[in-house]
Amino acid sequence: MTDLSQRWQAALMNNYGTPPLALVRGRGAEVWDADGRRYLDLVSGIAVNALGHAHPAVLEAVTAQLGQLGHVSNLYLAEPPIALAERLVELVDAPARVIFCNSGAEANEAAFKIARRTGRPSIVAAENSFHGRTMGALALTGQQPKRTPFEPMTPGVSHVPYGDLAALDAAVDADTAAVFLEPILGEAGAVTPPPGYLAGAREITAARGALLVLDEVQTGIGRTGSWFAFQQAGIVPDVVTLAKGLGGGLPIGACIGLGAAGDLLEPGQHGTTFGGNPVCCAAALAVLRTITDDGLLEHVTQVGKELATGVEALGHPLVRRVDGAGLLLGIELTEPVSTVVAGAAREGGFLINNAVPGRVRLVPPLVLSEAHAGEFLAALPSFLDAGQVATQP
Ligand SMILES: Cc1ncc(COP(=O)(O)O)c(C=O)c1O
Repeated sequence: MTDLSQRWQAALMNNYGTPPLALVRGRGAEVWDADGRRYLDLVSGIAVNALGHAHPAVLEAVTAQLGQLGHVSNLYLAEPPIALAERLVELVDAPARVIFCNSGAEANEAAFKIARRTGRPSIVAAENSFHGRTMGALALTGQQPKRTPFEPMTPGVSHVPYGDLAALDAAVDADTAAVFLEPILGEAGAVTPPPGYLAGAREITAARGALLVLDEVQTGIGRTGSWFAFQQAGIVPDVVTLAKGLGGGLPIGACIGLGAAGDLLEPGQHGTTFGGNPVCCAAALAVLRTITDDGLLEHVTQVGKELATGVEALGHPLVRRVDGAGLLLGIELTEPVSTVVAGAAREGGFLINNAVPGRVRLVPPLVLSEAHAGEFLAALPSFLDAGQVATQP
């Protein structure tokens, strides 16, 4: 571990800091460190490993595809990206077209370009949102400290308070190309907007002729208990961006344009060498198949509810409430000690995420069993106690 830390510090740029734990293998919702110590993984590579670690369906699909045809670029047709695009169109349940990329930020870059293609100059996004670290996605991201070191930003983006329909209504006009929103703020710790917010955003954008772009990079692919979070809001957006859980651990992103939004990019206007890589698409097809075959949407809804009610039922003084949906949960703390709670959890054999100081985020694999959820709930009070102690003068 010390050796790995030193090598990390010497060879890698210092943008992440040095991680406190070295992992060597994983299976399902469990991971092990170099000393053979086991952890229950409620981070899943930041909401990525939808089927957990080393799922046989992903392993098989990736191995078979790599053995047959690893990469061809978009200069040639190949079956896996076409099959995956077709399946995603089925899942959004509307006429749509897809462009593939390699990450969430890139999916939002594609959406940004689609917005520019409307010919309108401005974009409205939300404060506290997170859309990625590339320059376009960063301009959309509603967190000034992340933007400041890289100014000037890509022009035309303004931010309004998340969840505030009146503010959105005031900000969107005939110059607005698109409104970019996360259905639930993921990196901010699973912050759910007030009921009716997404439906209101849909009405406002439709009335002004602006696109509604939903960033489902974190909420999509079953994370909240439906294929996409927008389906629970009863709306149809113009553009949906995906990444994280889609590839089950392999890097793939997608930008889906519904209806006319799927026709705005013209030949030569966008592209990426790796987008639609057959191996990543094979992994994604395996993830989507397994979610259906194993009834994981219902499972996520059920286990997510058990986890959320279980945490609230602890009645721990450090817990104000549990926010989020499905298996994207934010434990809102009464004090800003999420780092202490997450550190104590790690010591106790559980990986959880200190999203922001006042919130702990739980984003376990969608396959998290009820037994594993119970194991976490039984252990959680002692981690919360550690956080409580840290608040004492
Ligand atoms: C909602 C959302 N959008 C975009 C991103 C950026 O994705 P990536 O890190 O794959 O570029 C993230 C990552 O956390 C995210 O949560």
